[in-house]
Amino acid sequence: MSDFAARLVAWQKLHGRHDLPWQRTRDPYRIWLSEIMLQQTQVATVIPYYARFLARFPDLATLAAAPQGEVLELWAGLGYYARARNLHRCAQQIVAEHGGKFPENSQKIAELPGIGKSTAAAIAAFAFGARGAILDGNVKRVLTRCFGIDGFPGQATVERRLWELAEALLPETGIEAYTQGVMDLGATLCTRSQPRCGDCPQRGLCVAEREGRQAELPAAKPARAVPERESVVTLFTDGRRVLLERRPPTGIWGGLLAPPEGRPPELAARFGLRAGACEELPELRHSFTHFRLTLRPLRCTVDSPPLTAADGAAQLEWVEFEKCGSAALPAPIRKLLTRLAAE
Ligand code: ADE
Repeated sequence: MSDFAARLVAWQKLHGRHDLPWQRTRDPYRIWLSEIMLQQTQVATVIPYYARFLARFPDLATLAAAPQGEVLELWAGLGYYARARNLHRCAQQIVAEHGGKFPENSQKIAELPGIGKSTAAAIAAFAFGARGAILDGNVKRVLTRCFGIDGFPGQATVERRLWELAEALLPETGIEAYTQGVMDLGATLCTRSQPRCGDCPQRGLCVAEREGRQAELPAAKPARAVPERESVVTLFTDGRRVLLERRPPTGIWGGLLAPPEGRPPELAARFGLRAGACEELPELRHSFTHFRLTLRPLRCTVDSPPLTAADGAAQLEWVEFEKCGSAALPAPIRKLLTRLAAE
């Protein structure tokens, strides 16, 4: 047996969970139901739902015959309702295609609605003692830490490696205790934050613990490439003041003052200004949550700045450079204007 498995099984006997409502049974219906409920929900939340569900649907045939609305009602509050719809469909499929008897083979189980490879292996292990690897989020955390596996576990190559590792670590016998053990380790000691490495059976073996890399492993999902946007803005100035426009209440910089977007000729026409000399200022980069913005500011001198009631004039304000430090400006615009004021 792998060192990892031997340590895990010995630990599970002493410190693992043995009294959860879906343990101490070989009934695949009950085990399947628990595994589906536990897919995105914690044990403590699942327990009362599990009891209510079984009281109303004590077996597969009862569940298959129930109206979908009733199934969803008993699921209400657990979230991820596709799980409930798949559960119901799955029960009906087992009745229709397997004579009401839960398939015993992990591959066959994985063909049923709502059951992935890992859940199928867990059901087959707990219900039938079938030897197979599981790889849910908790197990990924345990394995990436223990074996120092870099890269985001959701990435295909990393995931393939983790499956291979999970399979290589399996003990020849005692799959139930081993499977429960790896789940228990991930849920109770090897938690995402503040893992209790001092109590862990893999201490000394675990790469993350030896190298103090618990916070780095598993690696976070890589940030998606953020879209790039560009915006040309014009700073009309009489030397002392700059013309700013109040932005619409929604969207970026909602309700704040910023230089109007656009080029001098069309803006000057719209605002009733006579534009003088124009020059390009250095571009400015700013990161938002969902995109990165490059601002290309143009500075344009206006000698007589009459603010007529022309289109949009009501949203325009002449702001003294001196007051830019305290006006309602977005941070990058404030930076730009205070820099210009200092020139
Ligand atoms: N999470 C998923 N399956 C579980 C199980 N059988 N026991 C405890 N937590 C789990």
